[in-house]
Amino acid sequence: MYHLEELNQLEQAITASPDNVYIRFLLIQKLEAYSQYQAQLKDHLDALLRYDRQHIEAKKMLLKVYYTQKKYSAAIILGEELLDAENLGAPEKILLAKAYLKENNHGRAQELYMEVVALHPDRNDEELDKAFRMRETGGDDTDIGEDSDFMEKPNINFSDVGGMQGVKKEIDLKIIKPLEHVELYKQYGKKVGGGILLYGPPGCGKTYLARATAGEISAKFINIGLSDILDMWVGQSEKNLTALFDKARFNTPCVLFIDEIDALGAKRSDMRQSAGKNVINQFLSELDGVDKNNDGVLVIGATNCPWHLDSAFRRPGRFDRIIFVPPPDAQGKEEILKIMLTKKPTKDIDYAKIAKNTKDYSGADLEALIDIAVEEKLEEAMSTGVPQPLTTKDLIRATKKHRATTVEWFQTAKNYAMFANQSGLYDSILDYMKKR
Ligand SMILES: Nc1ncnc2c1ncn2[C@@H]1O[C@H](COP(=O)(O)OP(=O)(O)O)[C@@H](O)[C@H]1O
Ligand SMILES: [Mg+2]
Repeated sequence: MYHLEELNQLEQAITASPDNVYIRFLLIQKLEAYSQYQAQLKDHLDALLRYDRQHIEAKKMLLKVYYTQKKYSAAIILGEELLDAENLGAPEKILLAKAYLKENNHGRAQELYMEVVALHPDRNDEELDKAFRMRETGGDDTDIGEDSDFMEKPNINFSDVGGMQGVKKEIDLKIIKPLEHVELYKQYGKKVGGGILLYGPPGCGKTYLARATAGEISAKFINIGLSDILDMWVGQSEKNLTALFDKARFNTPCVLFIDEIDALGAKRSDMRQSAGKNVINQFLSELDGVDKNNDGVLVIGATNCPWHLDSAFRRPGRFDRIIFVPPPDAQGKEEILKIMLTKKPTKDIDYAKIAKNTKDYSGADLEALIDIAVEEKLEEAMSTGVPQPLTTKDLIRATKKHRATTVEWFQTAKNYAMFANQSGLYDSILDYMKKR
């Protein structure tokens, strides 16, 4: 019973000089080693902190004691104080996350736990894993499954895309042709691969065009948002990214469409720098095809917020072809309207007139416009009992009920263009705005 003797002596020393923080902490460390002394441990921690309010190690121990004693809200208050002062290590953060979980604050629990695991992948906690980890690690079991919702075989092609002559041509030259003539390109020492990035206001057909690109070359189409990948679980994002790229490589020819490419940049700030950087680096090396063959994989990224884009993406060989997808011009709008109206009853539509009356409309806006007009026709048909075809007048009337959604985007873009036009990213936007 050597330890009892030692504890007794320390107790005596402290009784003699209760303000000796050093000796008291020695005793505390001894007590901590034995689970039967929880009550004494707590008393001594309280006493020590009365003499030294800033004793971080003591506070960390107290956090553990609170947790063991199931005093979760006390643990949280203390834990948050330590966390704010950046005085928590991984084990204590896990403990705090568990306290949140016990108190049903799942959001905070998950956030904190993800942060820990992102930085220390080997630190895991069974209880938290069970609560938050969506998929098991290990095995060949990839997260992006064989017949996942992510993959499809599109039934549209370039002929279903109105306008966009320039963009279509660029895609054809820069990614379709190389894919069809891999050998030829190689003979000339040209690397096939890399990605293109589409950016522009929402609803102007980025996703639609990517899907049509896959259809154009009878390729498979994988459509995933970058935030999906990140959300799958920060600590496993890198693994998920690899699985995603592997799936594309396994299903060539394949268009791998990654939407919200800006999410990486945006997430970076709230994820703690290094974790976000890991994901970015992993993404870039997958894109570069460093140790794997990306032949037959076309990567198309898209973003509505190019200003949040990490500049690392713009280096050569990556998203080095960055293409602005503007709202449709008059001719584009006419084409889009024709495509959208083919299967609807219409009469003598003056496409040019509608195009002229839909300033700043995106493709999605035109779709909305038709929806509104159709609904009114339906209502009319219900009351008269006689269905009538859509006319120019119906569509023009509908423009009063729908406002163009691209205007706001250009406002924002303009601000960024003025203050941060690095690498001429905004030149196309400014050009477009001048002509508008
Ligand atoms: N150029 C276009 N031709 C035909 N339809 C278009 C075009 N642009 C947009 N659309 C229609 O608008 C919808 C929204 O476009 P989407 O590709 O989702 O825009 P974005 O990805 O740029 O936000 C599409 O599903 C499509 O029906
Ligand atoms: Mg989209």
